[in-house]
Amino acid sequence: MEGNVQSSYRIAIIPGDGIGKEVVPAAQQVLAALPLSITFVPLQAGWEIFEQTGSALPHSTASVIRGCDGALFGATQSPSHLVEGYSSPILALRKQLDLYANLRPVMSMPVPGSRPNIDLLIVRENTECLYVRQERLEDDGKTAVAQRVITRRASERIARKAFDQACARSTARTAQRPPLVTIVHKANVLSITDGLFRTACLDVARDFPDVQVEEQLVDSMVYRLIREPERYDVVVAPNLYGDIISDAAAALVGGLGLASSANASDNFVLAEPVHGSAPDIAGKGIANPVAAILAAAQLLEALGETNAAGRIRQAVHHTLAAGVLGPDLGGTAGTQEITERVITQLQTEKTD
Ligand code: NAI
Ligand code: MG
Repeated sequence: MEGNVQSSYRIAIIPGDGIGKEVVPAAQQVLAALPLSITFVPLQAGWEIFEQTGSALPHSTASVIRGCDGALFGATQSPSHLVEGYSSPILALRKQLDLYANLRPVMSMPVPGSRPNIDLLIVRENTECLYVRQERLEDDGKTAVAQRVITRRASERIARKAFDQACARSTARTAQRPPLVTIVHKANVLSITDGLFRTACLDVARDFPDVQVEEQLVDSMVYRLIREPERYDVVVAPNLYGDIISDAAAALVGGLGLASSANASDNFVLAEPVHGSAPDIAGKGIANPVAAILAAAQLLEALGETNAAGRIRQAVHHTLAAGVLGPDLGGTAGTQEITERVITQLQTEKTD
């Protein structure tokens, strides 16, 4: 998928619930302001559509998305208790489209509270581990058991994705040293499941002699990530560890309002902000749209539109550096104001 400005794209737009319906239209406005030919295909998913139709992921969404070049997803609201017939549409989409890699970039931002010199990418396995959701009660409900599945196939392909990403990266760090891949596991305790993940990653590493490799137990990973985040480059982890590490890492650089992610297969990307539907602020016009806007940049990057992706990131950077911040970062700007400032910035920047 190499860059080609003549291309035209069909992008599925799935706002979902809560602030998804505010931040995804904001990101769509930013995409529409670029000199690209994009057809937006609005699709539904989530709790609201479940309440209306009994399905959180209508068949039309699941089928139409396959004819698109990529997708931008907001967030859906999932109840914490079991609701008959409801299951999370994002988990279903990851499964149906085999979006096996969750790519979460974590970069220092010009906002209060962001730590400096951070530029890392977390590559989280997205299909298995505890997220196979095989849970059961035993012993008259007094014991709860969850199955954790790790396969060699899934571990090898996520490792390959991580090493490929490491080779493709061009950062201040990789300009000075070979790229570093950190393999996260807990194989000292879970020697069979995490042991398999570890071995598969180390086997793949042999195909990448120019990449530096290290291992890190997940508990000390969280500790070191907070102590010295600037030392990391690409971090690869099983699903649950990756989920936890990436939320912790987002807190180092300005929080959930800025954190984006991409769910990727080898030929499709569904990008989304890391945050959820934020019912506490939904409908107030104060959700920070930056996470969704940066998700749009990740989507463009995956489509080979590296230049356009870079322009979005630069415009966001300038907007934040100018102090245009939402209440989540101590400012007063609303969703629309931040979006308009990013678009104005895009239009005044040079195209290189
Ligand atoms: P959340 O991410 O929605 O909110 C956590 C806190 O961060 C809230 O105080 C919220 O106001 C704030 N926040 C999040 N995004 C923000 C933004 N863009 N601007 C300003 N503040 C922001 O997580 P929470 O509260 O745990 O979950 C709410 C709902 O979202 C639940 O139903 C959950 O299942 C769902 N969820 C969905 C996800 C998805 O669709 N991928 C991911 C995470 C949660
Ligand atoms: Mg999470």
